[in-house]
Amino acid sequence: MLVTLKSVLSKAHRGNYAVGAFNINNLEICQAVMAAAERVRAPVILQTSEGAIDYAGMDYLAAIARLAAAKTRLPVVFHLDHGKNPALVERAIKSGYYTSVMIDGSARSYKENVRITKKIVAMAHRRGISVEAELGAIAGIEDFVSVSEREARLTNPVEAAKFVRETGCDALAVAIGTSHGAFKFKGEPKLDIVRLKKIKKLTKKPLVLHGASGVPADIKRLALKYGGRLKEARGVSDALNRTAVRGGINKVNIDTDLRLAFTAGVRRALAEHPEVIDPRKILGPAKNFITQVVARKMRLLGSAGKA
Ligand code: G3H
Ligand code: 13P
Ligand code: ZN
Repeated sequence: MLVTLKSVLSKAHRGNYAVGAFNINNLEICQAVMAAAERVRAPVILQTSEGAIDYAGMDYLAAIARLAAAKTRLPVVFHLDHGKNPALVERAIKSGYYTSVMIDGSARSYKENVRITKKIVAMAHRRGISVEAELGAIAGIEDFVSVSEREARLTNPVEAAKFVRETGCDALAVAIGTSHGAFKFKGEPKLDIVRLKKIKKLTKKPLVLHGASGVPADIKRLALKYGGRLKEARGVSDALNRTAVRGGINKVNIDTDLRLAFTAGVRRALAEHPEVIDPRKILGPAKNFITQVVARKMRLLGSAGKA
């Protein structure tokens, strides 16, 4: 059942849990995510990045995601991830495919971010589509060289409250020290949870954690065993994810963990069965790994059993 982001996240906001948002780039990833959602009975957000759209085409990905939603009774959101280019966000809204879009104006000045977000909110809300916006720079907490740089780039709680009031967005992505990709921390994973709690208190809105992949040890080990070069890869630990959910996060974006699971599955299939040339025998095991990783994540976030 296709639903809006607003409906799924307002329940999560009231119930203090988070819903996983998983990046899909092809049929196999979409099916693997849906299999996990069915297994643990969780609402789910399927999202496509600009890169995914360049790779597979908006219409192909939409056809796959919308079919997945039509075939289940679980709530499924189809969301545009990181719409940095307003023309693409407008295209997604007008396509009629998406039930939610993200306008990512985080690289713009505060004023410009408000202006473009407000414009997208008006256009999307007229059509019953939800909007996620972003304030602050999603960058590793260790990347900031000084306290003043950190203060300038992580989301400011007072500004966040003003931003959600001024724009009318349905959910806000916050910068509290996560970053995209497999190499998030050099030492112990660390996030600014005090800041997160202040943002929640002042905005009273569903909040989104980007760059939340955990880089699971078992999957990383398999990828390494079969030739992957990922030694220093480190993600947001399960404990930290749980703390972030308790601190007010209601949507958690995961892509890297799916990539790792996919890679581990493909590498193992190719290494153990060098005679195999059937794509189904190579991609099948990769799908199973993704399903395992996604189901685990849904349980961790508290969305299992909430569908
Ligand atoms: O936000 C980053 C996601 O992992 C999407 O990555 O732009 O390479 O598809 P991508
Ligand atoms: P990860 O790279 O941690 O999976 O984050 C994905 C993301 O934030 C997509 O928007
Ligand atoms: Zn992101």
